[in-house]
Amino acid sequence: QAFFKSIHNSAPPSPTKRHIKVSVVGAGNVGMAIAQTILTQDLVDELALVDANPDKLRGEMLDLQHAAAFLPRTKIHASVDYSVTVGSDLCIVTAGARQIAGESRLNLLQRNLALFKDIIPPLVKYSPDSILMIVSNPVDVLTYVAWKLSGFPSNRVIGSGTNLDSSRFRFLIADHLDVNAQDVQAFIVGEHGDSSVALWSSISVGGVPILSFLEKQQIAYEKETLENIHKEVVGSAYEVISLKGYTSWAIGYSAANLARSILRDQRKIHPVSVLAKGFYGITGGDVFLSLPAQLGRGGVLGVTNIHLTEVEAQRLRDSAKTILEVQTQLGI
Ligand code: NAD
Ligand code: LAC
Repeated sequence: QAFFKSIHNSAPPSPTKRHIKVSVVGAGNVGMAIAQTILTQDLVDELALVDANPDKLRGEMLDLQHAAAFLPRTKIHASVDYSVTVGSDLCIVTAGARQIAGESRLNLLQRNLALFKDIIPPLVKYSPDSILMIVSNPVDVLTYVAWKLSGFPSNRVIGSGTNLDSSRFRFLIADHLDVNAQDVQAFIVGEHGDSSVALWSSISVGGVPILSFLEKQQIAYEKETLENIHKEVVGSAYEVISLKGYTSWAIGYSAANLARSILRDQRKIHPVSVLAKGFYGITGGDVFLSLPAQLGRGGVLGVTNIHLTEVEAQRLRDSAKTILEVQTQLGI
């Protein structure tokens, strides 16, 4: 017996809104921060969680479901079986080992490579038309691995990359100048990690190029101050990990921000890990690293051609070389 008696003589018209489904693999600190940020932003109709640990997974699912009275309506389910992900528009992979204090992201490769061989094929089987967003570290190399294992065209395989580092960068610049971080346009590109590259030449604050902004506001600066801000970005994750053991909230917002651009076809430009060969003089092999890319319903719609100084371009090519060297250890 139906709970509601229909007020229509015939069945009401079926909703025309497209059903949006996202799956998150890995229900750890990062996967759950992403899942909960996505839920609060009303981005999806259905959220599926997968993890290798069934108790943790069910506990996380129930805890999120119990917030139903305070959240936009979303069907949340979870399983160790990938069939729960069927028909996803976007699959976000966060499973795997994370750094201990002082450990580099690149050090995680062999452990997480093995997991990806079990994770990517079933995601592809159940959601052959989806977009893959990789978050597990080392994110650039694992995005390449996911691209290879999935057989997807490169526009449908994205690494969360330096979208997070760029937010850290914008926060530090905004803090330094006492302005709103959303008014700071600034990109970190290259590896999400130690060889990332700060694009100082293209930073603007409220549309004003930063170097002239500093002069106009009579704020004294030295090249060293700027370099130190970038060093602080590179050290950010190490500091948070040494203090609380892992990073989670910022990557949660970063990944949800990317999910919004993709699922809502926002066509916004984000620094994310994309197949970079052929852009900005990057040669030497198929390498994924972060470049300013336009994101929409089709995934990566294009790579923006912004002006780099010769020093910035060289640092970007060096970053590509660092990643390619690590990729040679893969054997896939
Ligand atoms: P975590 O230990 O809290 O969670 C990892 C989860 O993966 C666990 O719940 C574990 O059960 C699950 N898992 C392990 N093997 C699995 C498998 N085969 N299938 C499904 N699930 C499996 O770790 P975390 O703090 O959530 O970090 C996860 C990853 O995200 C790490 O690699 C970390 O370095 C990375 N990370 C990336 C960024 C970024 O900006 N790209 C930011 C933060 C963390
Ligand atoms: C980050 C992770 C550890 O927060 O890659 O930058």
